[in-house]
Amino acid sequence: MSILFTYIKELVQVREHTNEPLRGTAMDELPSIKNAYLYVEDGRIVDYGSMDDLHPHPAEEVYNCENQIIAPGYVDSHTHLVFAATREKEFEDRIHGLSYEEIAARGGGILNSAAKLADMSEDDLYLQAQDRLKQLIAMGTTAIEIKSGYGLSVESEIKILRVIKRLKSENYIPIKATFLGAHAIPLAFKDDRNGYLDLIVNEMLPVIGEENLADYIDVFCEKNYFTVDEMLRIIETGSAYGLKAKVHVNQFNALGAIDAAVKAGAVSVDHLEVMTTADYESLADANTIATALPSCSFFLGLDYAPVNEMIDKNIAVALATDYNPGSTPSGNMNFVFSLACIKMKMTPQRAFNAMTVNAAHAMGLQYEVGSITRGKKAHLLFFKDIDSMAAVPYHFGHSIIDKVLVNGHHIQD
Ligand code: NIG
Ligand code: FE
Repeated sequence: MSILFTYIKELVQVREHTNEPLRGTAMDELPSIKNAYLYVEDGRIVDYGSMDDLHPHPAEEVYNCENQIIAPGYVDSHTHLVFAATREKEFEDRIHGLSYEEIAARGGGILNSAAKLADMSEDDLYLQAQDRLKQLIAMGTTAIEIKSGYGLSVESEIKILRVIKRLKSENYIPIKATFLGAHAIPLAFKDDRNGYLDLIVNEMLPVIGEENLADYIDVFCEKNYFTVDEMLRIIETGSAYGLKAKVHVNQFNALGAIDAAVKAGAVSVDHLEVMTTADYESLADANTIATALPSCSFFLGLDYAPVNEMIDKNIAVALATDYNPGSTPSGNMNFVFSLACIKMKMTPQRAFNAMTVNAAHAMGLQYEVGSITRGKKAHLLFFKDIDSMAAVPYHFGHSIIDKVLVNGHHIQD
């Protein structure tokens, strides 16, 4: 199947392949071609350029895109998409003054989600997650990372990872699976945290390795959750199974986890609402991507990660949703785009680079998605009657995307 899009008002995020994420002033550029053409064959981008240089292409379908801006789809590199139930009660408790940490200390939070998930069948979890995934694709997400972490037992963690594997096999969009057994200490191990760590290392990881259930490994490194040393133990064991690390760090406290994770070769460190001078230094020029999650800060009413400071210090920054029932019940990347601009004062250029090119790096998909590049997947967003990408975050709270194409096919929402 071949498609030629002609007279595109603006083709945005046009780049050559590179294994380097964007840093510093490169984040300020959003390379684009005005009055462009784009040629797609069998779901891949084959050619593009100015209409003035259009080569003859034997396309089966030709579309005039005079009033359209075309951009690559969003890449969401951090979600907890597979969960059993929402947590509105905790939402109300926070309105009445309880903090996220106080709610967790009372047995709410992650443990609440784990109890609900234990009671749900794999099929029901799958159907719910599939429905959420379809909604996200309709809002422009065209690659996604999904974590386990609401299981906290061998059976339930494996159940979540099998759901993710099933979603992968449906080939909707590229999916990466992350094993987050170390999300919280389950009740059964309240007085035996080492016993739970042993369970992760000796019982969960061997099955995950055997069934090829994960691409990455994650740890919630935070006071009352897991220490830096425990995080390192999990990362090291994960690497023996070929799993690279993507970790939750510096959400509420700076514990030195960033330096440890960077030295352990983590692909990304995520959250970063609380940063120290030493944390900036560890991340400057590092290959580890710093992923900010502004919807989480919005929902919890807490500080935002200092992304502009990071970019100015040569740290490679990405943005993701953190979609989960506790701290971020939204997987809408358009809203992340708005918050990045409005609350974090990122320019639309910086924000869009962070949620496409750098986000692809944060999940090892830099050769597949995240830009208009020959050979990459034709995962495309179409915007009608707007003058620039700034219109996207400007229209906060909803999606102004006219059409989403995945592998060159139009997704009906
Ligand atoms: O990334 N911080 C840790 N985990 C999730 C939230 C977990 C929950 O509250 O269910 C997050 O924000
Ligand atoms: Fe998270």
